[in-house]
Amino acid sequence: MDKKNVRDVDVSGKRVLVRVDFNVPINNGVVTDDSRIRAALPTIEYLINQGAKVILMSHLGRPKGPEDKYRLDPVAQELTDLLGKEVEKADEVVGPKVKEAVDKMKPGDVLLLENLRFNEGEKKNDPEFAKELASLADIYVDDAFGASHRAHASVAGVARYIPAVAGFLLEKEVDTLTSTLENPKRPFIAILGGSKVSDKIGVIDKLLDIVDALLIGGGMCFTFLKAQGYSIGKSLLEEDKIDYCRETIKKAEGKDISLYLPADVVIAQEISPDAEARVVLVDSIPDGWMGLDIGPDTIAVYRGVINSARTIFWNGPMGVFEIDQFSRGTEEVALAVAQSGATSIVGGGDSIAALKKFQLEDRVSFISTGGGASLELIEGKKLPGVEALLDKKDP
Ligand code: 3PG
Repeated sequence: MDKKNVRDVDVSGKRVLVRVDFNVPINNGVVTDDSRIRAALPTIEYLINQGAKVILMSHLGRPKGPEDKYRLDPVAQELTDLLGKEVEKADEVVGPKVKEAVDKMKPGDVLLLENLRFNEGEKKNDPEFAKELASLADIYVDDAFGASHRAHASVAGVARYIPAVAGFLLEKEVDTLTSTLENPKRPFIAILGGSKVSDKIGVIDKLLDIVDALLIGGGMCFTFLKAQGYSIGKSLLEEDKIDYCRETIKKAEGKDISLYLPADVVIAQEISPDAEARVVLVDSIPDGWMGLDIGPDTIAVYRGVINSARTIFWNGPMGVFEIDQFSRGTEEVALAVAQSGATSIVGGGDSIAALKKFQLEDRVSFISTGGGASLELIEGKKLPGVEALLDKKDP
C-alpha cells in the first residue's frame, strides 16, 4: 500500500486517535466473537509500547442515536482482558468530559470513546464533528478495514485535520487482498453465496474479468436458477435481477469462465430445524417449497472444482448453515477450501461465522475482517478510509 503507516510517524508521548472496527456481536453484555478486537491488537500494542496515548473509536451496530444496547462497555471489558491492562471507557463520543479524560492520559494509557454512531455527525461526515474528534489528538491512525468503505467522519473526515496514517491491520488487509487478486496462482476460483444477488453485482462483474471459475450457492443462486427458466417455488428471488443473472451467465460463457450453479438443492416448506427437508433436482422444486442449501450432487461437483484451485476467494454461505439440516453445503465447501492447499481468502461475517462453527478458521490462508469493504476493494472501488491517508511520498 502506498500510504504511510504508524511506523512512519513519531507517536511517542503523542495523543493518537485510532479508528478501529469493533463492530462485534454482543449477547447479554458479553462479546461473543472477539476476532475483530484481536485483529487490532498489533497496532494498539505497538502504540502502547511506543508510549503513545491511545484513544480508540469505533461504531457498533446501526443505532438510531444513543441506545444503551449499543454502548461499547462490553468491548472495553473484552479489550481490557485481551491487553491485560485497564482500558478506560468514555460514556460520550466527544465533549468536555471526553476532553478531560484525554487530558488526564499518560503515555501508554488506552481510552475507548463511546459508539461513534451515537453522534449524528458520524454518518453524515459532518466537518464540525470530524474537527471535534481530531481536536482530541495529534495523529490519526486508521485500522478499521471493515469500515474503510464508509465515507464517515471518523473514517474520512478526521484525516483532513491531523496527520493520518494506516494501522497494521488496514495495511495487511489491503496488501493481501490486492496482491492476491492482482497476481493469482491459477486456477483462480471464487465462491459466492449469501442471500442477495444485488449485494454482489459489482463484485461479480469484476470477478468475471479475473477468475477461471465462479461457484454460486446460497439464497442468491435461486435468482440465477430462475433466469435459467426453472421454477423455484418460494425460494429467495430478486425479480428485478433476473435479467442481470441471465446476462451474467451469457457473459461468463463468452469469456470461457465456468459459472457453476447448483444441480440439486435441499428444500423445505419453512426455515426451521424441525421442518421436513428433501433433496431435489433444481427442475423439481415444488410450489410452496424453498431451497435452503445446495444438495449432495452439487457439493460433489463444487468440491472437485475447489480441489483443483490454487487461489480461492470465498464470500457468503451456501445455505442456512445456522440450522443443522441446511448446513451441509456450507460445511463441505468450507472443508474443501481448508483441504485444497490453495491460497484461500475468506471475507464476510457469515462465511467467517461458518468457518468458526466448523472449527476451520485456522485452516484458510487469510480471513478478512471486512465484509462490504473487501467486496468494494475487489470491485476496484476507492476506499474512503484509505484514500484519506498520507501517501508514502508525502513529507
Ligand atoms: C461491518 O460489519 O461490515 C462493518 O463494521 C461496517 O458496518 P456497517 O455496514 O454498519 O457500516
